[in-house]
Amino acid sequence: MYYFDNAATTAQKPEAVAQAVYNVLSSGTVGNPSRGAHGYALKAYGIVLQAKDDVKALFHCGPEYDVAFTHNSTAALNMVLKGLIHPGDGVLTTSWEHNAVLRPLYQLEAQGVSLAFIASDSPGGALQYDTLEERLTPRTKWFVCNHASNVTGNVLDLPRIKAFCQRHHLGSSSMYPRQPAPSTSTYPMASSRQPALRAISRFAGQAGRAASSSAAMLS
Ligand SMILES: Cc1ncc(COP(=O)(O)O)c(C=O)c1O
Repeated sequence: MYYFDNAATTAQKPEAVAQAVYNVLSSGTVGNPSRGAHGYALKAYGIVLQAKDDVKALFHCGPEYDVAFTHNSTAALNMVLKGLIHPGDGVLTTSWEHNAVLRPLYQLEAQGVSLAFIASDSPGGALQYDTLEERLTPRTKWFVCNHASNVTGNVLDLPRIKAFCQRHHLGSSSMYPRQPAPSTSTYPMASSRQPALRAISRFAGQAGRAASSSAAMLS
């Protein structure tokens, strides 16, 4: 059998992951992280902190950033989109987006957010970058996009998107860690080890007119 539905729904889980989970669950010495000051709880919290540091290293995050774990990308996307975008805001997004982005955006649209889309070329699938400026409205405040299409594999021209966002004082978008991070990118994680909403509000405060998606944002 050849399994092509990898990345999102990998069938063959890495042995190291299964072993790490087993080691913790079977050790009999690991409690509930962040829920107590006794040794078992502190040991669990130490494991979580180490995992966060490992993820930060994977994302090339500086020390001023933190990681917030969520159940999955859909939960993270809902939290970020609904936490940052408000009725009256305008959102520019792309025809590449996954349902995990589109559905919260449509829910926000029903609450008074205006949506506009950048289409993609057929059959190549490249985004129609030339239409970026004409899709802007006075309400446009956010640019929401996937770094790479999970359908076609097309990769967004991030430097071009970043320049566009900076030109129009928009925030920006999502990115996936499978590639080395471009030197121009940073990630939306706060310096202290605080819950996700803290990280989000902190980033929003820094970015002013900012946008969002699952894994990361352009600085
Ligand atoms: C591009 C993209 N975004 C978001 C998701 C949703 O991910 P999750 O299943 O972790 O919620 C997927 C899953 O296929 C995806 O491919």
